Amino acid sequence: MILIKLGGSIITNKEKATTPRPNTLDNIVRTLKKIEEPIIIVHGGGSFGHYWSVKFKMHTKPAKYNVHGVSVVKNSMVELNKIILDSFLKYKLNPYCLPPTDFVIGDKPIRKKIIEIEKIAKSRLIPVTFGDALWYGQKKSYILSGDRIMTILATILKPKLSIFVLNIDGLYSNLKTKKLINELKGEKLLISKSSKDVTGGMRRKVEEATKISKQGLQVFFVNGNKPQRIIDAVKRKKFYGTLFRG
Ligand code: IPE
Repeated sequence: MILIKLGGSIITNKEKATTPRPNTLDNIVRTLKKIEEPIIIVHGGGSFGHYWSVKFKMHTKPAKYNVHGVSVVKNSMVELNKIILDSFLKYKLNPYCLPPTDFVIGDKPIRKKIIEIEKIAKSRLIPVTFGDALWYGQKKSYILSGDRIMTILATILKPKLSIFVLNIDGLYSNLKTKKLINELKGEKLLISKSSKDVTGGMRRKVEEATKISKQGLQVFFVNGNKPQRIIDAVKRKKFYGTLFRG
């Protein structure tokens, strides 16, 4: 099984509120058709959920956030999710929509439900879930990022490969020269914090990728503008991106 996260930065235009990138999305989805094994899709919030969670000052830490904000974030994620589901349907990839409330209570994953997700994927439907604003309990809510969902699913389902589809080639060792890090094995990375990003941007992705790879699982960061690279990695032909070795 292959777990794939479509990052908000690749499927939406993060600079502009509620703006998808339909052509980029379609190109990725069309290319995913070439994968012959079961896949599970997670997507981020980008200029939909992210935009609104910044506006309503919501974070990953549970707190008594503005309830209107919770609704608006959720609504925008349903809107983005619909765009993604429509793209999958257009290319006959049979998506099966699964909001995270289906397999998480508060911040606790429901193991039985997650095992069910793999069965759905093995039946050739494609489970599609997403980062969202979630009810936590005691009048609190929080933002569950798609990156965190990757770790939740990978920990239980042990995918052959967990792929983070980004808007850049992978991790750069030097931002100025854009020198790509091809492979990481247990190294500790220092990433500067971006203040704009509620769910922590690249730093959070690296943290979650490290958690997954520490379980002996492979994680790959790849550029979604070059979707064939996803296929090459799945087919073990070539890894053009950053590979975290378990
Ligand atoms: C975003 O999930 C969830 C919301 C803000 C509602 P992610 O944090 O995984 O989104 P991207 O991929 O970084 O945009």
